[in-house]
Amino acid sequence: MKLAIIPGDGIGKEVTAEALKVLTRVGEVFGRTFEFEHLPWGADYFLETGVTMPPSGYAMLRDDFDAIFIGALGDPRVPDNRHAREILLGTRFELDLYVNYRPVKLLDERLCPLKNRAPKDVNFVVFRENTEGLYVSVGGRFKAGTEDEVAIQEELNTWKGVNRIVRYAFDFAACRGLTKVCMADKSNAMQQGHALWQRVFKDVAAQYPTIQPTHYYIDALAMYMVLDPAQFEVIVTNNLFGDIVTDLGATFQGGLGMAASGNIHPGKTSMFEPVHGSAPKFAGKNIANPIGAISSAALMLETIGLTREAAAIDAAVLKAVRDNQVTSDIGGKLGTREAGDSIANSIREP
Ligand code: NAD
Ligand code: IPM
Ligand code: MN
Repeated sequence: MKLAIIPGDGIGKEVTAEALKVLTRVGEVFGRTFEFEHLPWGADYFLETGVTMPPSGYAMLRDDFDAIFIGALGDPRVPDNRHAREILLGTRFELDLYVNYRPVKLLDERLCPLKNRAPKDVNFVVFRENTEGLYVSVGGRFKAGTEDEVAIQEELNTWKGVNRIVRYAFDFAACRGLTKVCMADKSNAMQQGHALWQRVFKDVAAQYPTIQPTHYYIDALAMYMVLDPAQFEVIVTNNLFGDIVTDLGATFQGGLGMAASGNIHPGKTSMFEPVHGSAPKFAGKNIANPIGAISSAALMLETIGLTREAAAIDAAVLKAVRDNQVTSDIGGKLGTREAGDSIANSIREP
């Protein structure tokens, strides 16, 4: 397996090192070779060279690798975040990674900030549309920097884009024997673009008679996630709303350090990353929680068909959480590296 590794910025570098440590251990235990190719793209590289990523970068990621692993991008020295847009969002767009798969799974009751919620109550997935919406940079600024400034940022919704993510959510539910899919939009206020979401959701739901479709406006969804997360199995929503509710979902799991994600185009080279960012104030201190990154590596293996290997990582993460061999954000005493060691050392063949 040939893997492109983009550690990126800040704690991205630290948590990526732990994910690779665990993957290397999985390779030893299961007799597999993971070949890592480190790509230096990130804020340091941009500030040194003026290049975010080379023009051939997207084609190389798509054609030369089985999967891509990325730490996080974002650095106060690049205030317009240009490198993150080109490397992270650019790869999502150029490789057409339309499924942003973000599981929300509580591993241990003590990690959940919600009252009286156990792992059985917090176990759902969010499918975030990943190639359209408000992220497409369509718009512009007129008279920028003056009191007459006009700033326009358009939201793109296409039938093709909405249909494929909604269908993916229903297919996922059907394949896993789940019975509920909830779509969240803001069609009460955004009557053009989100009317399309309404239409597509109704049409696709009609083709899955065993699955109960529900709809919430996004503001109500945020409330119900907190009040009654157990009602959710699969949530599907647009790019921006998915970004926001998955940070909320991360807090149910113990915080941003715990949450994993995949940017997927079924059957093609896909990209995996923790949900969190580069957390500049934590960078270089060996305190960041590596579990979001390590669990993202498990999602990567699962997606490329190494399900036993992925299960071994999930089991090792669960053991570390139960034994409290974890970082301080979730109540442990270990540093990033030591928490990574603990997980790597308990990788076993199932
Ligand atoms: P952030 O996720 O970096 O950090 C927010 C807070 O969450 C941190 O201060 C910390 O308290 C906690 N946190 C995050 N990751 C953690 C970890 N592994 N362990 C323990 N605690 C953790 O979000 P932010 O502060 O809004 O953004 C910082 C930078 O990261 C910005 O430049 C932003 O654009 C970027 N960002 C990048 C990605 C990505 O590359 N995928 C995702 C989100 C944010
Ligand atoms: C995420 C991040 C990115 C996003 C940022 C860094 C552009 O917050 O992956 O959740 O908004 O998609
Ligand atoms: Mn985000």
